[in-house]
Amino acid sequence: MSRTVIHGGLVVTASDEIHADVLIEGGRIAALAAHGTDAATSWSADRRIDATGMYVLPGGVDAHTHMEMPFGGTYAADTFETGTRAAAWGGTTTIVDFAIQTMGRSLREGLDTWHAKADGRCGVDYGFHMILSDVNESSLKEMDRLVAEGVTSFKLFMAYPGVFYSDDGRILRAMQRASGNGGLVMMHAENGIAIDVLVEQALAEGRTDPRYHGDVRKVALEAEATHRAVQLARVAGAPLYVVHVSADEAVDEIAAARHKGLPVFGETCPQYLFLSTDNLAEPGFEGAKYVCSTPLRPREHQEVLWRGLRNNELQVVSTDHCPFCFSGQKEMGRGDFSKIPNGMPGVEHRMDLLHQAVVDGHLSRRRWVEIACASPARMFGLYPKKGTIAPGADADVVIYDPGAEQTISAETHHMAVDYSAYEGRRVTGQVRTVLSRGVPVIEDRAYVGHAGHGTYLPRGTCQYL
Ligand code: URP
Ligand code: ZN
Ligand code: ZN
Repeated sequence: MSRTVIHGGLVVTASDEIHADVLIEGGRIAALAAHGTDAATSWSADRRIDATGMYVLPGGVDAHTHMEMPFGGTYAADTFETGTRAAAWGGTTTIVDFAIQTMGRSLREGLDTWHAKADGRCGVDYGFHMILSDVNESSLKEMDRLVAEGVTSFKLFMAYPGVFYSDDGRILRAMQRASGNGGLVMMHAENGIAIDVLVEQALAEGRTDPRYHGDVRKVALEAEATHRAVQLARVAGAPLYVVHVSADEAVDEIAAARHKGLPVFGETCPQYLFLSTDNLAEPGFEGAKYVCSTPLRPREHQEVLWRGLRNNELQVVSTDHCPFCFSGQKEMGRGDFSKIPNGMPGVEHRMDLLHQAVVDGHLSRRRWVEIACASPARMFGLYPKKGTIAPGADADVVIYDPGAEQTISAETHHMAVDYSAYEGRRVTGQVRTVLSRGVPVIEDRAYVGHAGHGTYLPRGTCQYL
């Protein structure tokens, strides 16, 4: 069994910061010992990694990605191969992507399709959530089978009528089923029926630029849908995870539910923490690069999101990585913002942007690791295999240089998309080396991984319940 020792670094987990050496044996963490002690110095090893001056972190867990997702007549530009390679570059060693049920088809068929896309192609480990587009007797029964085999979370949409949208009755039925089988319902909370009216009116009045995407997808319609989702989950006796929360009033709804003791959880994404409607209003058609749903909000919302992350009103930061190239894809919406494919690239920069938040004083180091690694692993039944550095855990380890300066750019990123939403942004901190189950995938800032290293992760149920 091969043995690796990482020595001299500061091990940061969600609960501790310790100057410890880490022994890895056969893909798992075998032991931690205080640096410089006899225990640590006595370890023999095939490979020694000097982490002096570095952080030693659990690999990031990005619980919301869309590789190769069909949307608006095109496909998200990253494949499982390019997307997981980019994830590794950014210190993310686990993704949970969304398999999609096509209307009129079974969950099984959707899941098989996503397995076929990912199998043998991933650079890091991956699991699946299931998007429920067609709630009926048969798909409800299938939910039980999927939970039993490790697909334990189901996304429903209150938005996108005619595509993924479910009405309140269907949502209630899916939640009732989840309350019985241990599944976690993930909600895209926006009132899509009302939004479609506003879209039609905006286009009829000649308001066609990308900025109007943000205008019509109103804060009130995110907050209203969040409130409704909470009440439906409450009636069903089911837990609820609200995805890509962007609006202050939606945070308030989640906070109020949690205050009542309801099992309601919230996720936000770097784009809502670092970008704003100012980006959507960039001149020319540049704003299309920032079209995603829920939409970017005015800057004032950011402080509420940071506060929510600090005080645990929000538990997870995922990327909602859903990249479309500007050229040929985002351009499909020139003259009609409703035709711009929704989604932004981000899987590569989540760990760095959140480290910048540590540097800027928004988060502590441990909270950084908690919201980016430990909490998503716990939320989606992967802890302590993923999300921490402890004996028995998978040796998914990031050696992170907290003092390195970098400039984010499409010129240097590894995602298969022709722009960066953070072009030119300077951040402090950078991944140096990444191990996935003890195997180097990034070594001193060179990619040494390969497609097919990543394995499928059947998951347990939510560990916060
Ligand atoms: O704009 C987004 N978020 N695109 C991906 C699909 C979704 O709703 O998460
Ligand atoms: Zn969504
Ligand atoms: Zn998404």
